[in-house]
Amino acid sequence: MKSLAEFVRETPFFAIAHRGSSGDAPENTMAALRRALSSGAPMVELDVQRTADNTLVVFHDDVLGRTTNGRGYIRQTSTDDLMKLDAGSWFSEAFAGERVPTIVQALELLAGRVYVNIELKPFDDSDTSTIDDVHKLVELVHRFNMAHTVAFSSFDHRTLALVKHLDWRLPTVALQVPGDERPPATVVASCGANAWGCSVEELTSDWATNARAHGIPYGVYTVNTKPDLDAMLALGVHAVVTNYPERIMNFSTNR
Ligand code: G3P
Ligand code: MG
Repeated sequence: MKSLAEFVRETPFFAIAHRGSSGDAPENTMAALRRALSSGAPMVELDVQRTADNTLVVFHDDVLGRTTNGRGYIRQTSTDDLMKLDAGSWFSEAFAGERVPTIVQALELLAGRVYVNIELKPFDDSDTSTIDDVHKLVELVHRFNMAHTVAFSSFDHRTLALVKHLDWRLPTVALQVPGDERPPATVVASCGANAWGCSVEELTSDWATNARAHGIPYGVYTVNTKPDLDAMLALGVHAVVTNYPERIMNFSTNR
């Protein structure tokens, strides 16, 4: 695989599978990651959380109830108990028995096959283990030889600065905190990020112009329909995060 930096330079527009192909399979499960791979999307986004006994797992919420048959906080749940939960039935009976993957299982599947966007959830200031999590993830990225094919994204720009401190070559994407009115170039400069993203509702032509003028690749989340895709392409986005990568790639190639 070519480096992500080279790919972004050469590719005017690409789709990023959000939490895997999460419109087609339960988000952040191996099934969703496999569907993302078969969709042909060049990049897969996933979220990372931690269990009570410090296993990093692919999971979005801090609570279990929305996407598993469990209850309570993931950080208060042991890895053994988490692995017993069904992370597929809430989406469809066809996915009954899907488990919450560990980040290692996910990277074993994805490394070397697709660009991976690892979203780091915001720092909890009372919880210094978040710093250990970032250390572990950076180590894993090196163990899987993914330094040139991964991007770390976050709404918490301190975590991105920490990634850069650990290895300045690792690409980072600053996600705009809703309500933050600073333009992309200011946000990116504040943490040394390589790219920038915001929600589809937030992107303005001023922000797009600002990012382009500073040579910053920029993207939006979450684009699932043709009208939204057309509006974003008109604003010159380099990437869209989507729950339906196959559909969005068909729309963009058939324009
Ligand atoms: O990549 C952007 C997107 O994943 C951020 O929001 O809540 O879906 O993780 P969220
Ligand atoms: Mg995410």
